[in-house]
Amino acid sequence: MTRLEVKDLDKTFKVHTQGSIEVKGFENIGFDVKQGEFLSLFGPSGAGKSSILKTLFRTYTTTKGNIVFHRDNGNKIDIATATESEILELRKSEIGYVSQFLQILPRISAVDVVAQQLIVKGESEEVSRNKAKEMLDYLSIREELFDLSPLTFSGGEQQRVNIAKGIIAPKSLLLLDEPTASLDKTNTMKVVEKLKELKTQGVAMVGIFHDLEAMEMISDKIYKLERVQ
Ligand SMILES: Nc1ncnc2c1ncn2[C@@H]1O[C@H](COP(=O)(O)OP(=O)(O)OP(=O)(O)O)[C@@H](O)[C@H]1O
Ligand SMILES: [Mg+2]
Repeated sequence: MTRLEVKDLDKTFKVHTQGSIEVKGFENIGFDVKQGEFLSLFGPSGAGKSSILKTLFRTYTTTKGNIVFHRDNGNKIDIATATESEILELRKSEIGYVSQFLQILPRISAVDVVAQQLIVKGESEEVSRNKAKEMLDYLSIREELFDLSPLTFSGGEQQRVNIAKGIIAPKSLLLLDEPTASLDKTNTMKVVEKLKELKTQGVAMVGIFHDLEAMEMISDKIYKLERVQ
C-alpha cells in the first residue's frame, strides 16, 4: 500500500535580508513510498536533501507541488496544503522526524527521553522504561549513563539516544536526516538492523545517509538529486 506520493515538488526560499533574495532549495521532485519501504535521498551537499525532508514534515512550506500522505484511517491528505492543526495531529501519531542532533529539555534522563515516546501512546511507565533501557543497551549506551541527562553525552551518544527516541514507538512514516552521521561502523550497522525491523512492521521511511554501505543495505529505492543550478 502506498504511504506517500510526492509530485512536482519545488521549494524556493525567500531570504529577507537586504531586499529579498531568492534561493532555490530543490525542484521537480517526485517519488512514492510504500508501506515497509525505505527510500533514500542521495546527492551532493546543498542539493536539497534536508530541505526535502523538512518540507515533508512541513517545517518548510512548499512553493509548488503535492505531498500526498495516505493516513492510517485510509484517507489522503496533502501535507503541502494541510492546516496547521492537521499537521500537528499527523506529527503526533503518524509522521516522525529524526534529526541529526538531539533536541531535548535539560534535566530529563536518557531513559525518560526515550520512554516518554511510549508513555504518550498509553504504555505503562514501567514497561516503557524497561523497553527504553533495552533499546539504549542495544545501541551501546552504557548503563551508568541511563539516568543522566543526555546533554552531557558525547556527540555519538546523543545521536544514539536520538535514534532510540525516534524508533522506539514508530509512526507510519519516518523521516531520517543522517541518523548515523556521528556513529562508528558497529553502531551504524546496529541502527541499520533496527530500521530493517521497522520495515517488516510496515513503517515507510525516507532517509539520508552519508555512509553509502548503510544506504545500500537499507534502501529499497534511491532517489538521486543533482546540484541545483
Ligand atoms: N531556511 C533556509 N533559508 C534559505 N536557504 C535555505 C534554507 N534551508 C536550506 N537552504 C538552501 O537550500 C539549499 C539546499 O540545502 P539542504 O540543507 O537541503 O542541502 P543538503 O542536500 O541537505 O546538503 P548537505 O548534504 O550538506 O546536508 C542550500 O543551498 C541551502 O543554502
Ligand atoms: Mg542535509
